[in-house]
Amino acid sequence: PTALAGRHFLKELDFTGEEFRGLIELAAELKAAKKAGAEVQHLRGKNIALIFEKTSTRTRCAFEVAAADQGAATTYLDPSGSQIGHKESVKDTARVLGRMYDGIEYRGDSQRKVEELAAYAGVPVYNGLTDDWHPTQMLADVLTMTEHTARPLPEIAFAYLGDARFNMGNSYLVTGALLGMDVRIVAPKTYWPAQEIVDRAHELAETSGARITLTESVAEGVLGADFVATDVWVSMGEPKEVWDERIAALGPYAVTMDVLRATGNPEVRFLHCLPAFHDLGTKVGREIFEAHGLDSLEVTDEVFESAHSVVFDEAENRLHTIKAVLVATLA
Ligand code: CP
Ligand code: NVA
Repeated sequence: PTALAGRHFLKELDFTGEEFRGLIELAAELKAAKKAGAEVQHLRGKNIALIFEKTSTRTRCAFEVAAADQGAATTYLDPSGSQIGHKESVKDTARVLGRMYDGIEYRGDSQRKVEELAAYAGVPVYNGLTDDWHPTQMLADVLTMTEHTARPLPEIAFAYLGDARFNMGNSYLVTGALLGMDVRIVAPKTYWPAQEIVDRAHELAETSGARITLTESVAEGVLGADFVATDVWVSMGEPKEVWDERIAALGPYAVTMDVLRATGNPEVRFLHCLPAFHDLGTKVGREIFEAHGLDSLEVTDEVFESAHSVVFDEAENRLHTIKAVLVATLA
């Protein structure tokens, strides 16, 4: 058994920097083994439940392929396909699934629900995204950063532009703080993470040596950055009506070629957890673009399709990092 055997994976704050880095290292090993055709199965005979109260492409597929690669079976419970939250409480669902499964993934709105599931399941519970945190995404992003820079994590600077009050912004701030990185949150002040989270990040920085910047200035925030990241301006579960205010407030924080140039770093890389509104390829995107006379939102198509963009490495790394979480907690 590994040092993380039996542990939940609910939010970054539950881990030490060393534990988090351990998962990244394990993911890199598992990735290399798979590429070499030398993967060893550690999860044969295990069963994992995947509860999705919100939709998903990457997270669901990463859990399913990771489990299959490792010899485990999965059950996918779609947003309307289980009793959870409708006819049965989270607490009861946790105790039922805990009797049948070795691990449970949960994606939904409230962090409180995934924490409650973990409190009653008796088996490891994994947060596949809540409104507050997206911790498995952070493992993929950090693995991607290590693959695209020769320098150690404390020497890497990254800037997140956009709505930083939600899962991605919170997770980037705390992850950067935990790993001793140079992390910049670049957004209008009203879009910064809650003060409580900023305080926790500063506390972590005292021991990790992280440099934390929250700024409204794009020029200041991105200068010298190795990575520039963004996310959708309206997240799953938010009403359509907020698009107007988001476009007005976050428009200046869209990732354009000018923003990448402002880093002063010709090697700068672009990250996005995806899905992204960068072209007319989606129905929702087309509606928003037409209503506002725009042809991209949080990132231009030019940046997204450029050599700076490492978004598909990042997406692939969801598989290897989620596999690391499963192996570390269940093997
Ligand atoms: N990045 C991410 O979590 O994607 P999905 O919503 O497709 O799982
Ligand atoms: N902030 C986005 C992330 C999607 C992976 C959302 O919650 O919809």
